[in-house]
Amino acid sequence: MLGLKLLTDPRWANIAESNLEEILTDHAWCEQKAATNAISLITYNSEHEDLVHELTAIAIEEMQHFQMVIEIIRERGYTLGRERKDDYVGQLMKFSKKDGSRNMAFIDRLLFAAMIEARSCERFRVLSQNIKDQDLARFYHDLMVSEANHYTTFLNFARKYSTDVDVDKRWKEWLTFEGELIQSYGNKELIHG
Ligand SMILES: [Fe+2]
Ligand SMILES: [Fe+2]
Repeated sequence: MLGLKLLTDPRWANIAESNLEEILTDHAWCEQKAATNAISLITYNSEHEDLVHELTAIAIEEMQHFQMVIEIIRERGYTLGRERKDDYVGQLMKFSKKDGSRNMAFIDRLLFAAMIEARSCERFRVLSQNIKDQDLARFYHDLMVSEANHYTTFLNFARKYSTDVDVDKRWKEWLTFEGELIQSYGNKELIHG
């Protein structure tokens, strides 16, 4: 799926479902961080008009996802907790190249975003197929489709705007790194946990 090297064990969905307040809190903040990331890509790469427009749409969509999740939290009588530290994303951030050319850093930032979208999409798929709560299963199915589109957008912009990066080669490196990394996860009620 989306080139991912390792698929999530469906039992992770049971862990997630056993603590909905926790997974929904973590999920809400994932959406907020996705919006923040899109905004920062816009801020630093505003010379690319189509990127500014498409990432503005993504930033808005991610905040709509945030809104949907906090609504679910409220409807169910849960409380939105504080932002959870996302160790998985921290490790991906460490892997991204920041010291090469400006173009290299820009392209890697897009691939970093594509990578998180790909894994989030896969995790939403696992939730949609395995949780017993049918309302939430449908919700996660819809989000899975949306995040798959974001993944495609980020990857396409990386291909379009690369001047000195072999994007296909670098993307393979990302997939390999992430495939190793994700082996240590899949046992917590966190979207990337
Ligand atoms: Fe989202
Ligand atoms: Fe997304």
